[in-house]
Formats: sequence, structure tokens, C-alpha cells
Amino acid sequence: MNKTDIQTALNWRYATKSFDNTKKISKEDWRLLEESLVKSPSSFGLQPWKFLIIQNPELREKLKPATWGQSQVTDSSHFVVLTTLDKLNIDYVDTYLKRIAEVRGVSLESLDGYRKGIIGNLIDGPRAPTVRHWADRQAYIAMGFLMETAALLGIDACPIEGLEPDKYDEILNLKGSGYHTIAAVALGYRNQNDKYASAKKVRFPAESVVKYLE
Ligand SMILES: Cc1cc2nc3c(=O)[nH]c(=O)nc-3n(C[C@H](O)[C@H](O)[C@H](O)COP(=O)(O)O)c2cc1C
Repeated sequence: MNKTDIQTALNWRYATKSFDNTKKISKEDWRLLEESLVKSPSSFGLQPWKFLIIQNPELREKLKPATWGQSQVTDSSHFVVLTTLDKLNIDYVDTYLKRIAEVRGVSLESLDGYRKGIIGNLIDGPRAPTVRHWADRQAYIAMGFLMETAALLGIDACPIEGLEPDKYDEILNLKGSGYHTIAAVALGYRNQNDKYASAKKVRFPAESVVKYLE
């Protein structure tokens, strides 16, 4: 992988409208894509998400009308629904701290200051009233990691916010689970006749969206 490969991937990727439903992502590539989700960064490292990989064709058929009828739901190789926590509670924070202690071989006591920082910010502090939105924002980071990894692998993707989250929650039995739907990503291989693949990228010039304060 060199700099040109990265630039090529940035230009090659596009929000794929039409997938070739005969082409499937290999197990090996999928493992990397899964890893990109799992290794995504999140605020405090709390990973307030679950990623649902919808493999069941009937479930996908049910989701399609709740996705503005978009064909990517049924035609892609892999369909990922990003869901996040409805709220953050102390039990969840403690489960995470136990995981840090286990992985890094440190004591829970040594994480006490960190625990207080999280609770003082997200549970009792300034972010508490909007913690659901905080969680939702983390999911978009994972979405970005997934799409970029896919592009580097030469795998097509379409990020999908054109869906009805409430209907998704019903169809996927998420009500009462503590998680809710944010968005989805369809992954696979483009249909050769998808005209969007050759459409020019529409972006504001870099100078108008990137400012250097020197
Ligand atoms: C959060 C998000 C949600 C999106 N939702 C949809 C969608 O539901 N359907 C779709 O076809 N494209 C969707 N897009 C794709 C955008 O329209 C697309 O990324 C944008 O027009 C730029 O084009 P490009 O990605 O092909 O370069 C979404 C993109 C993002 C980032």
C-alpha cells in the first residue's frame, strides 16, 4: 500500500447505488472489514454500539421498504446495521473498565480516576442529557472506518441513512434491547452499469472547506 493506492481508493469509491447480487465478499476480506468496525475509535473507548450483519435474505426483504425501497439492501453482499446504546449506565462503564483491566493487566483501582471522569462527563455531567446523541455520533466513526477499509480493499459500499429507524428497530426486534438503529452500510461489488460509478465527484474546493490558521 502506498500513497497513490490511498489516493486511488479515495477517488474510486462512491456511494454505490446498484450492487451485483451475484458477487460476494470473501471470508478473508470480510474478516478485515469486521475488524475495521471492532477497531474503530470511540469517545473514552466506550464502544457504545452493536453492529448487526444482516445475512438473512427474508429479513433484508423486510428491511427494504423501510429503507426507502433502496435496492442496496437486498443486492449487496453484506448489509450492516449500526445500532447504538439508548443510554449509558454505570454497569456498562464498569463492564468496560473490567475489560481494560483484563486486557492491559492493570487493577480496577488504578482506573478509578478514569471511571470518575467518564461518569462525571457522560452520566452525571454535561453530556448526560444528550448521551444518546453522543453514542450515535460514535457510530458514524465506525461507518467511516468501514467504508475506507472497504475502498482500500477494492470493495464497494453505500452508507445508508435513508431508512426509518423506528421500523428497523421493530423488524430487528431492538425495542427494549437497549440499542436503536442509526444507519446502515451495504457492501459488495458494483453493478457494471451503475451510472453513478463514473459520475464526477462533487465536492467544494479544498480551500473553501479547509482553513489553515497560522
Ligand atoms: C451518513 C450518510 C448517509 C447516506 N445515505 C444514503 C442513502 O440512504 N442512499 C444513498 O444512495 N446514498 C446515501 N449516502 C451517500 C451520499 O449521498 C454520498 O456519499 C454523497 O453524495 C457523496 O458522493 P460519493 O460518496 O459517491 O462520493 C449517504 C452518505 C452518508 C455519509
